[in-house]
Amino acid sequence: MNLEKPLVIITGASKGIGYKTAETFLDNRFDVLNVSRNACTLTGVSNIKLDLISATDEAIKNKLSSHVPHTRRIILIHNSSVCYNDTVQNFNAAHWQDTLRLNVTIPALLSQWLLPQMMPQSAIVFIGSTLSEKAVGNTCSYTVSKHAVLGLMRTVCQDLAGKFIHTCCVCPGVTDTEMFRLRVENNPALLAKLTRLQSDDRLLQPQEIAEAIFMAATHPIFNGAVLHANGGQIER
Ligand SMILES: NC(=O)c1ccc[n+]([C@@H]2O[C@H](COP(=O)([O-])OP(=O)(O)OC[C@H]3O[C@@H](n4cnc5c(N)ncnc54)[C@H](OP(=O)(O)O)[C@@H]3O)[C@@H](O)[C@H]2O)c1
Repeated sequence: MNLEKPLVIITGASKGIGYKTAETFLDNRFDVLNVSRNACTLTGVSNIKLDLISATDEAIKNKLSSHVPHTRRIILIHNSSVCYNDTVQNFNAAHWQDTLRLNVTIPALLSQWLLPQMMPQSAIVFIGSTLSEKAVGNTCSYTVSKHAVLGLMRTVCQDLAGKFIHTCCVCPGVTDTEMFRLRVENNPALLAKLTRLQSDDRLLQPQEIAEAIFMAATHPIFNGAVLHANGGQIER
């Protein structure tokens, strides 16, 4: 890695929105480091292959410090997440713990561990969801976690005041990725319903969200902002 170049660290860049975000930063001459169980296959991306739910905090911290030994401009993007279909009546305690660990605790810990390496002009971008600010049925643990992500971003903004490191939360709408396809698998009625949520009656593309993330990460004016990237979601 060239220490003159800024570094973007993305959790979950092996596919979906994270993959397209990695590609966008590569195109803009950033060094890119992915953290996920599978590698990001884009040429030029470095990978830390880890399960962020089951790996110990110490193992994650050690891997990170060996890949990021020096202080530099870093854009940290908290993108990986897990989503179970569950309700307050039937949620599984183990799934609840895993969801809060990957979606909330890991972003908090990675931020804490990497902040000492982050020069001014660095940024921390959280990926929320429309479900950071509203709820729908059958996504209980995920919705709780995405509300917490927004609270975490707001806290980070206050705690980093004056450090010239900005933070924000990009909240995608319904985007055509593996996570989304698993949710609507064998349920064409749900697929049609979720597609119709976008005001122009289409699924969002991961590239569109990646471009919103890039803008948020590289413009400090968005410090503390919640950026809705949902194509104008219709309330039904
Ligand atoms: N798609 C949507 O409609 C939508 C809507 C709103 C918000 N979002 C948010 O956008 C972000 C990206 O979602 P996506 O749709 O692109 O999801 P995706 O295609 O399912 O990708 C999820 C990423 O998270 C990684 N990941 C999952 N479990 C992991 C684990 N235990 N340890 C390490 N990495 C793990 C996956 O990598 P590995 O499998 O290689 O580990 C993968 O790269 C998420 O925060 C999601 O909540 C998505």
